[in-house]
Amino acid sequence: MSEPRSLPVSRRNLLAAGAATVAASVTPAAARSAQPDRPNLNAGGQAMARVSLQVNGQAHSVDLDTRTTLLDALREYLKLTGTKKGCDHGQCGACTVMIDGRRINSCLTLAVMNEGRRITTIEGLGTPEAMHPMQAAFVKHDGYQCGYCTPGQICSAVAMLDEVKAGVPSHVTADLLAAPDLTPAELRERMSGNICRCAAYSNIVDAITEVAGGTG
Ligand code: FES
Ligand code: FES
Repeated sequence: MSEPRSLPVSRRNLLAAGAATVAASVTPAAARSAQPDRPNLNAGGQAMARVSLQVNGQAHSVDLDTRTTLLDALREYLKLTGTKKGCDHGQCGACTVMIDGRRINSCLTLAVMNEGRRITTIEGLGTPEAMHPMQAAFVKHDGYQCGYCTPGQICSAVAMLDEVKAGVPSHVTADLLAAPDLTPAELRERMSGNICRCAAYSNIVDAITEVAGGTG
């Protein structure tokens, strides 16, 4: 077996020459442009962003820590406190709002993820003088006791009826090809993400049934 030939330059010199070449070719401007977009950090080291939100038909622009949930942006920054914080973990439905007509737990989505989307909270559905039919039905049927879950229940119910009209099946829909029929079992399944600690469920079902066109 032949002996390995000795290299004309040492390994140390080769590495040093390579590093020097790279350093000379990277200008400060090139180094800057090679970096990914850097977040705008505030004095506390938090990544901040100006977020544009469309809520109840009004445009809002707020500077937020990018980790701010939509729920906290609505309550703490826009002062729309109708949307409630229950569990803050996606388990109770108290924070339900509508985004582009679909219901969503606002504690589980970041505000920055909802720029340019149409957000509707309980304040955007109706007013005490001109209530949305679902709000009026909850009042008529006593669909609440303490009222803490009620904004989420109402937003969820409004969007849920649109889902039924659009033919979206639920886990208890027997015939996936037929238009869903809003039976009590369907209604309870579809509203199961909205918990009521006061257990006003039977009255909530009556209110939603009336708006859906049943007897209530
Ligand atoms: Fe969002 Fe409970 S506060 S689901
Ligand atoms: Fe009290 Fe539902 S009315 S939690």
